[in-house]
Amino acid sequence: MPKLVIEGGKSLQGEIKLQGAKNSVLPILAATILSEEESVIQNCPNLSDVAITIEILNYLGCKTRLEGENLIIDPSNLNKTEIPEEYMRKMRSSIIFLGALVSRMGNAEISLPGGCELGPRPLDLHFSGLRQLGMIFEESHGKIKCSLGRGVLGSNIVLSFPSVGATENLILAAVKAKGITTITNAAREPEIQDLADYLNKCGAKIKGAGEGIIKIEGVKKLHGAKYRIIPDRIAAITYMAAAAVASGDILIKKINLEHLNSVIPIFEESGCMIEIYNKENLRLVAPERLLSSTAIRTMPYPGFPTDAQPLIMAMLSVAEGSSMIIENIFESRYKHVGELLRLGADIKVEGRTAIVNGVKRLSGAEVKGMDLRGTAALVVAGLCAEGTTKISGLKHLDRGYEDIEGTLSKVGADIKRI
Ligand code: UD1
Repeated sequence: MPKLVIEGGKSLQGEIKLQGAKNSVLPILAATILSEEESVIQNCPNLSDVAITIEILNYLGCKTRLEGENLIIDPSNLNKTEIPEEYMRKMRSSIIFLGALVSRMGNAEISLPGGCELGPRPLDLHFSGLRQLGMIFEESHGKIKCSLGRGVLGSNIVLSFPSVGATENLILAAVKAKGITTITNAAREPEIQDLADYLNKCGAKIKGAGEGIIKIEGVKKLHGAKYRIIPDRIAAITYMAAAAVASGDILIKKINLEHLNSVIPIFEESGCMIEIYNKENLRLVAPERLLSSTAIRTMPYPGFPTDAQPLIMAMLSVAEGSSMIIENIFESRYKHVGELLRLGADIKVEGRTAIVNGVKRLSGAEVKGMDLRGTAALVVAGLCAEGTTKISGLKHLDRGYEDIEGTLSKVGADIKRI
C-alpha cells in the first residue's frame, strides 16, 4: 500500500505553481461531448479523477489525447449512451455526464453512484430539475434510464439549495434546449462560471453564471473550443495552510484572488502575512505561532468552502487558543478528526460543530486518509508534526492533487511516497 512519509518540522520556502481546478475540469470534460467538434482543454490537471473521466469519454466513443498539459477531445464518433457501474462507483461526479449525454444522444443510462465518503449525497435536485426540462426517468435494479421525452424545453427551475453538481447538470442539459431556461438559487462557485465560459466559447448563450440566477437561451448547435481551466482554489488553500503550519514563506503564482476572498481573512486572523503581487501572485509568511480563529462556518460560495474545512482545521490544531468550526454543507465531513487526534490534536466534535483547542505541537504517527481533503489535511498536519508521519489512503489524495509530494518537496518539505 503506498504511503506518504513526512519528516515534520522543515520550513517551506519558495514558489508554487498551481494546478488547474479539479472541480472545473470534470464538468468541462463532460461538456465537450455536447458538440461534435474537437475541443482543446488547456491546463488540464493530472489527477486520477481526470483519468477516470478520460476513460468514460473513451468508452463513450470519443477520441482523447494528452499533449503536455492540454487534453484534446474529439467527440465526433460518440456512440454509446450508458455509463457502466464501475465508473459511477469510482467517481461519484460522473453523474455530471447525465445532462450532457441526454442532450447529445437523446437518452442515457447510468447506475446510481451510491454512498460516498462525505455521507449520503442525494441527487434529488439533479433529477427534479432535469424532469422540469422535460426529461423522463425510469429507475430499476439500481439503474436509471433517462430520455428526452418530447424534447428538452426551456423552463424556470428553482433550486431549494444551490447544489454545484445540480446547477452544472442543468446547464449542460439546457444549453441546447428549445427556449429559455432560468435557474434560480443556482450555485455561484467559480467552477460554474468556468463551465459557462467554456460553453459560451463553444457558442452557447449563458448569462449570469457565478450569480444566483442563470439564464440560458438554448442554441441548436455548439462547436468545439480551446479553453484554459482556472487555477485550483482548494489546492491554493492547501499550500497556504501547509506554509502556515511550517514556518513558511511561499509565493503561489497565477492565483485568482477573488476566489479566495472568504479564506484570506482567516489566514490573516491567524497571524499570517499575506502580500499580493501583480494581482495574481500571493505571498504568505507564517508567524512564529499561529493564532486561533473566531467561528468558521462552511457555506455555499462566496462563503467559506466546505472543501477547505479539513485543511483549516489541521492548521488551527496548532494555533494558540480555541477555534470553532461549523460544517453546514456535508453531514460526515469530520472523518479526518480521529486521525488528527492520533497526531496529538485536541478537537471535540458535537454534531456539525467542532471545537479545535490548539496544541503547541503535533507528533508524527501512522494515519489513514478517508476522503480527499481529509487526507490533504493529514499532509498539512504531518508537515508540522514532530518526527515521522506516515499517511495511507492516497487514492483519495490522488483524485484531486497533482504530485502533492513533488510540489511540497520543491519548497523544502521532507516528504516522499513509498
Ligand atoms: C461539489 C464539489 C465538491 C464540494 C461541493 C460543495 C465537484 C466535483 N465537487 O460537489 O468538491 O465539496 O460541491 O461545494 O465539483 N444535495 C442534495 N440534493 C442534490 C444535490 C446535492 O441534497 O440533488 C446536497 C448534498 O447532499 C450536500 C449539498 O447539497 O449536502 C451540497 O452538494 P453539492 O453542491 O451538490 O456538491 P457536489 O456537486 O456533489
